Amino acid sequence: MNTVIDDVDYGPLAQLIGKWVGNKGLDTAPDADANPDETAFTDEMTFSISGPAENAEEQNIVSIKYHHVVRKLENGRVFHDQIGHWFYEKSTNIIMHSLSIPRAVCLLAGGEYQERNGNSIFNVEAKAGSDAYGIVQSPFMLEKAKTKAFKMNLSVNGNVLNYHEVTSLHIYEKDFEHIDKSTLFRVTYEQG
Ligand code: HEM
Repeated sequence: MNTVIDDVDYGPLAQLIGKWVGNKGLDTAPDADANPDETAFTDEMTFSISGPAENAEEQNIVSIKYHHVVRKLENGRVFHDQIGHWFYEKSTNIIMHSLSIPRAVCLLAGGEYQERNGNSIFNVEAKAGSDAYGIVQSPFMLEKAKTKAFKMNLSVNGNVLNYHEVTSLHIYEKDFEHIDKSTLFRVTYEQG
């Protein structure tokens, strides 16, 4: 596939561009007793270019921005809305993923781009307390519903995208693995 758009080579990120939709999502989140509560969802992701950047006249990275909207399957109500970027540095093969969610939690996760059995694999991780791939959260969330770590495995094969993410929480005085997974299909290559 052509990875050059407006004279910028987006490398593996080019495969993500467009709009994707899915109706096979599953969320496992804590209920008020810190027990797992499962919710089936539909979701859509839109990815579009956000250009190259040169950092400290040394590092060249490219990025795309995304918007992820998640609705309850049963009633179509939006219950998760997320924005951020994916970044790629060709010389090191590093990929990074930033996210911001409407609970006053933001993070930057990092990893290395991989290809396996025709799949393009974007696996990234962040940990609270890490200076580089870390998590920033409000004082309230730090005290009551702390995000301790985040891991995302995202893979693309043609027009099929799968992701599985684990957000490790400390909530209601217990550790809880908040898990989200889905399969999406590309409906257009047009940028969102
Ligand atoms: C598909 C993605 C996601 C969905 C559908 C989702 C959905 C939910 C749901 C249903 C809850 C239970 C509380 C409530 O009903 O509002 C929850 C809690 C929470 N989520 Fe997510 N979430 C997603 C991704 C994330 C991500 C990426 C993060 C942060 C890295 C995150 C952080 C949290 C936190 C901190 C809580 C605890 C808040 C509380 O229960 O009081 N979530 N999420």
